Amino acid sequence: MDRIRIVGGQKLNGTIPISGAKNATLPLMIASLLTQDTLILENVPRLADVVLLQRILGNHGVDVMIAGKRRESEPNTGRTIHLSAANIVDTTAPYDLVSQMRASFWVIAPLVARMGQARVSMPGGCAIGTRPVDLLIMALSDLGADIEIEAGYVIARAKNGLRGGKVVFPKVTVGGTHTAIMAASLARGTTEIENAAREPEVVDLADCLNKMGAKITGAGTARIVIEGVDKLNGARHSVLPDRIETGTYAMAVAMTGGDVLLQNARPELLQAAFDIIGRTGATVTPTNEGVRVARNGGDIQPVDVSTAPFPGFPTDLQAQLMALTSRANGTSHITETIFENRFMHVQELARLGARIRLNGDTATIEGVSRLRGAPVMATDLRASVSLVIAALAAEGETTVNRVYHLDRGFEKLEAKLGACGAQIERLSV
Ligand code: UD1
Repeated sequence: MDRIRIVGGQKLNGTIPISGAKNATLPLMIASLLTQDTLILENVPRLADVVLLQRILGNHGVDVMIAGKRRESEPNTGRTIHLSAANIVDTTAPYDLVSQMRASFWVIAPLVARMGQARVSMPGGCAIGTRPVDLLIMALSDLGADIEIEAGYVIARAKNGLRGGKVVFPKVTVGGTHTAIMAASLARGTTEIENAAREPEVVDLADCLNKMGAKITGAGTARIVIEGVDKLNGARHSVLPDRIETGTYAMAVAMTGGDVLLQNARPELLQAAFDIIGRTGATVTPTNEGVRVARNGGDIQPVDVSTAPFPGFPTDLQAQLMALTSRANGTSHITETIFENRFMHVQELARLGARIRLNGDTATIEGVSRLRGAPVMATDLRASVSLVIAALAAEGETTVNRVYHLDRGFEKLEAKLGACGAQIERLSV
């Protein structure tokens, strides 16, 4: 298994190109199941999760071509992908595939909407809390699907097609909102979604579906209205830049010091995070090319932050902020409100010398003046990258084990950081 070796202490200076967003790419790829025509996605990041989803979609009969080549010949390269679901050959998404990535459960929506049936394994993915799918099932049922749960599979049926309805989410769910939007696009009649997720990735999905002929209004607000259509077409769509990757590198710079242009980053996608990064003492400046983040001298200031659905501070940046505040000049508090059990990075950060106490959903981080390199273990995607950030600012050498988590969500991490002066290398075993 690959490891990443980092020798800390270097400031970061230069330019980091921000990739297309993983969390937008996945639902966009899944949306290809809604049409017989070809969906062309540009700015697709080269990530293990994208490759896995290609396999999952391939299993349903989707023909995936990357930059003009079939995926078998050159896996994980090329940034424009063509997805063609002219013939759906199988409406079952099996356990061995779905269990590897939670988002693949979302195929249930286009499959039942277009084919009238779907049989999808209950999901797996990152080990951060229980992460149920009850609200996704609720949404499908509100749109007229009959649901059965049998031997670890959710079976959704709508023989005569789905019908528009009212979906009121008791809790904000990104996956629930994606599922409801996709299903409602091909349902008969009008659907209203209340308490919808407002995340930029929901807006990106709605924009793409509208290009495909869907009639969706209100994406980006808590109330989305969808007028169902009989059929969707192909389209060409460019994936929006990754706000989590942007925030991650911004925190890396805030931690090590230096001056980095995050090229193609869109500041409005992570205003809450930039506000917090600013409060820690870094300067964040939007430019024509992206966003510049710098910290030249001065201490890292402590902050108190709670995660929240968009436009709040994202849970996907919580671990990275904890790494940053571990070296603050004072005590910070971080409360995780979205996921239970999303503190697995705490004990690994402690191995580098961080002082963090947990009390329920709140972490108290007493800043220390120095961290020291150590062997650490990546646990989930965002936790892993928090260890990388901490290691960049630690004295001496850190090896991060189990880096496959990083490959799920961060494109060319070592190359991007290395180009800005970090001493970082991948050790392949
Ligand atoms: C997506 C993101 C993930 C991010 C999360 C929250 C992708 C691929 N993943 O995950 O990176 O951390 O949004 O911003 O886009 N819940 C239920 N029942 C459900 C569904 C969700 O109780 O049926 C709960 C979850 O356990 C969690 C909360 O709702 O506590 C939010 O989850 P949700 O927004 O659905 O997360 P994902 O869409 O899985």
